[in-house]
Amino acid sequence: MRHLLNPLDFSVEEITRLLDLAGDIEHNLPKYAHVCDGKKLATLFYEPSTRTRLSFEAAMLNLGGSVLGFASADSSSAAKGESVADTIRIISCYADICAMRHPKEGAPLVASQFSSIPVINAGDGGHQHPTQTLTDLLTIRNLKGRLDNLTVGLCGDLKFGRTVHSLIEALVRYTGIRFVLISPQELKVPGYIRTDVLDKNHVEYKEVDNLDEAMPELDILYMTRVQKERFFNEEDYIRLKDSYILDRQKMKLAKEDMYVLHPLPRVNEISVEVDKDPRAAYFRQAQYGVYARMALIMTLLEVEKPC
Ligand code: NCD
Repeated sequence: MRHLLNPLDFSVEEITRLLDLAGDIEHNLPKYAHVCDGKKLATLFYEPSTRTRLSFEAAMLNLGGSVLGFASADSSSAAKGESVADTIRIISCYADICAMRHPKEGAPLVASQFSSIPVINAGDGGHQHPTQTLTDLLTIRNLKGRLDNLTVGLCGDLKFGRTVHSLIEALVRYTGIRFVLISPQELKVPGYIRTDVLDKNHVEYKEVDNLDEAMPELDILYMTRVQKERFFNEEDYIRLKDSYILDRQKMKLAKEDMYVLHPLPRVNEISVEVDKDPRAAYFRQAQYGVYARMALIMTLLEVEKPC
């Protein structure tokens, strides 16, 4: 039995297969309508979510399966003090696969150790968010036709943004990837990403604080929200929250074929006027999230691709 806790749990070849499957799903949706008949997905969300939880649910429903779960810790027995280990033992009796989001880093890993069904990490604290990464990779591949030889700018809260950590870990395995890490000093990527991921893999990157200067060289700009819920005090959040606002003026500095991604939710960091720009890809990205998660559910449940 396999879990998805970290983007590196799949090899590059497995990711390619999964993205190919997601591509086939996108173009032949009705063919997949019954491949998970009778299967159940549990969504265990101890932290707020719109896209991730609902796209998981939509994914399972599109495959013919059903869904059960909870959308906040308050409405689960966690509020009574139940441990993740006990909860997952019980969920294993009710469902065939589960997606867990938790504010504590490593909670889905703990769950996997007590689970008899595949556990998918749907975001653990400021750590990792591997299914967003599958979505991001599918989006980049669809838009640019490749996952190598790209200059990728990541902008905003690179310290607490789990989508950023997972995307960097996944992309360093492709050749010719360069990163421009754009953040205020206080929100730079954590040290382990620099030493254990970027330096260890001899990946070219630079850390800058000016978005305008970075714009012209980017093939992809991955914007992120400042992660309010991970700050220790509100003053720092208020000071840093509007560090970057992508607007029409800034978009003029970018290449014609540079695309803007954002895992969403957006707060202020992308002005709504950018939505009309054909290079704004964040809403398409959310749609790709459903196909990526359908492919993931099929892969972990070892469901055959229909002919
Ligand atoms: C992200 C998350 O939860 O980390 N959202 C998502 O899953 N699409 C990004 C965020 O909350 O800023």
